[in-house]
Amino acid sequence: MVAVTRLRDFTRTRRTRRTEALRSLVRETRLDPSMFIYPLFITHGTNVRTEISSMPGQYQISVDQLAREAAELRELGVRAVLLFGLPASKDPEGSEGYASDGIVQQAIRELKRVDPDLVVVADICLCEYTDHGHCGLLTATGEVDNDPSLDLLARMALSTVEAGADIVAPSDMMDGRVGAIRDTLDDAGYTSTPIMAYSAKYASAFYGPFREAADSTPQFGDRRGYQMDPANALEALREVDADVEEDADIVMVKPALPYLDVIRAVRERTDLPLAAYNVSGEYAMVKAAVQNGWLDERRVVLETLTGIARAGASIIITYHAKDAARWLRESASPRGGA
Ligand code: PBG
Repeated sequence: MVAVTRLRDFTRTRRTRRTEALRSLVRETRLDPSMFIYPLFITHGTNVRTEISSMPGQYQISVDQLAREAAELRELGVRAVLLFGLPASKDPEGSEGYASDGIVQQAIRELKRVDPDLVVVADICLCEYTDHGHCGLLTATGEVDNDPSLDLLARMALSTVEAGADIVAPSDMMDGRVGAIRDTLDDAGYTSTPIMAYSAKYASAFYGPFREAADSTPQFGDRRGYQMDPANALEALREVDADVEEDADIVMVKPALPYLDVIRAVRERTDLPLAAYNVSGEYAMVKAAVQNGWLDERRVVLETLTGIARAGASIIITYHAKDAARWLRESASPRGGA
């Protein structure tokens, strides 16, 4: 009798961890392929499928490859893609970014042709298209010039929506771009097209592999004059507030892993859907360790994505999307799963 009382002196949290069925019953965070957005890098030419050396398993692909890509994503239950373009040529104004026959516009038309239900998100930024590699226009002294850049970003957004994009996602970090894009889309009659704003986008070293993938390295200087200082979290909330004020439909924190606290803070700030971008450098780190035999890829990736979701993201942009979707399906089937 005395022993029973003593046994109850501590909390037995292990009771609900005993079997996979119990663990699954009390699980607080669930991943589903429908919450993933898969980034694609589109390049000119035909039959192109060039692996990105710093992002093993990711490719620059030509438009003719998209039917196969869309079929694979549909099969896996991944229902959204984010498009980046590699233009045929670059100039100071990034003009292929807003050309009606630009590479991304061609890709959007092809994706909507082969799979009209796929959610096609167009990344809106000039850095892949400008010869200087910055995200906006430059002044004579080489500063990124905010207000004149808004017009070009809005033109780019409109041209991708005209091509069929379902969502536009400005990643340039110019002030006022969400409002400028909203006004331009509304004036053209596209009042129903959502904007996913890269609201808290940090000046991060984790974009390194992406800049190889999208050939968008700034030719001088860096992006610290427009992207956020990694030390700031309160400022992220001001960025989110400004984008909400300008009528953003989805807000984003980017990168994900070094900014889980920011994801949580933004989750508590707004009721809008919240996306997190698990960026190229985060992917590259995992791949490098896996290739060395140092980490178990499946477990590390699912744990990482779960952590991002647990922090508060309901949408995750990730290069792991296809693999994760496959693993989630395997563990859902009665025989599969570790
Ligand atoms: C364009 C853009 C970048 C990324 C997404 N959109 C690069 C940058 O800002 O330099 C990074 C994505 C990734 O690293 O996976 N501005």
